Amino acid sequence: MTAKTLPGGTFTMAEDLTVTRIGYGAMQLAGPGVFGPPRDRDAAVAVLREALELGINHIDTSDYYGPFVTNEIIKEALHPYPDELHIVTKVGALRDAEGGWPHARSPEQLRQAVHDNLSRLGLDVLDVVNLRVGGFDRPEPGSIAEPFTALAQMREEGLIRHLGVSTVSGEQVAEAQSIAPIVCVQNLYNIANRADDELIDSLAAQGIAYVPYFPLGGFSPLQSQTLASVAARLDATPMAVALAWLLHRSPNILLIPGTSSVAHLRENVAGAALSLSENDLAELDGIAP
Ligand SMILES: NC(=O)c1ccc[n+]([C@@H]2O[C@H](COP(=O)([O-])OP(=O)(O)OC[C@H]3O[C@@H](n4cnc5c(N)ncnc54)[C@H](OP(=O)(O)O)[C@@H]3O)[C@@H](O)[C@H]2O)c1
Repeated sequence: MTAKTLPGGTFTMAEDLTVTRIGYGAMQLAGPGVFGPPRDRDAAVAVLREALELGINHIDTSDYYGPFVTNEIIKEALHPYPDELHIVTKVGALRDAEGGWPHARSPEQLRQAVHDNLSRLGLDVLDVVNLRVGGFDRPEPGSIAEPFTALAQMREEGLIRHLGVSTVSGEQVAEAQSIAPIVCVQNLYNIANRADDELIDSLAAQGIAYVPYFPLGGFSPLQSQTLASVAARLDATPMAVALAWLLHRSPNILLIPGTSSVAHLRENVAGAALSLSENDLAELDGIAP
C-alpha cells in the first residue's frame, strides 16, 4: 500500500503538509497507563516501522507519553526520518509521580516542552504542535490567549511549522485563530461521542483538519449493540466499522487509532477501507444520543 492507496487517501493541512488520512497514534507505545517503558520495546519499535511500511506518514505523539518514552521509541525506530513523515506532537501537560496529567501551560513550561520534543525526537523543527487545553476528555472554559500566543511566538522563531489545539471548545478554536493560523483540532470524538459535530463541519469548511482522539473509545472500547450488529452483518469488526464511519463522516477527519500491536495496526488500516451503505450509515447515526 502507498500513501495514495491507503483508505481515505490524503488530506492537505498546509502547502508543505499533506498526510495520509489514516495515521497512527503513538500513545499506546508507553507502558500501562501511558507510564514508564512498554512491556516489549522491540514490539513497540516494530509497530512504528510497520506503520511506515503500510504507507502511513502521520504519527501523533507527545513528550509526556511515558513521559519521554514514546518519543524516545519513535526516534529509535524511525530516525533519520523519511522526508514524507510528519510527526505531530502536543504540549500543555506533564505527568506527575501518581501518573496524573497536570496542566503545564505557562510560557516557560511550553518553551521547555517544545525544546524537549525537539531534542527527544531528534528534530530541528516540529511539523505541528498542538496546545492541549482541557481535561483528559473534555474542554474546560477559559481564555487560551496566553499559552497560544507563546506557541505562536515559537512558530515565528522557526521552532514550529504549524499549530493546532486540543481538547478545546469552538470558542477556544476561534480565539486561537485570532492569534495565529491553526491547521488542526484534536478532540475526543467517535461514533458514540459526537458533541463536536458542528465544530467538525465548520472546520471542514475552512480546510482545517479534525483529528479525533479515542476513535476506538480509548481506554474503554466502544460498546454498542448497533455497532456490533452492523459489524456482524458486514462480517467486520466493530473497530473496522468505527474507523470506516469516521473516514466517511467528513473529509477533514484524520484517523490516529492507537495500538501497541502490529496485528491490530494492520487490522485497523485494512478495516478502515470497509464500505458502508446508506442503510448502514443511517443505522450507525442512531448510536449517538
Ligand atoms: N489530545 C489529547 O489529549 C489526546 C488524548 C488521548 C489520546 N490522544 C491521541 O489519540 C490517539 C488515539 O487514542 P487512544 O490510543 O487512546 O485510543 P483508541 O485509538 O480509541 O484506542 C486504543 C485502544 O484500542 C485497542 N485497539 C486498537 N486497535 C485494536 C484492534 N484492531 N483490536 C482490538 N483492540 C484494538 C488498543 O489496544 P492494543 O494496544 O492492544 O491494540 C488500545 O487499548 C493516541 O494514541 C494519542 O496519540 C490524544
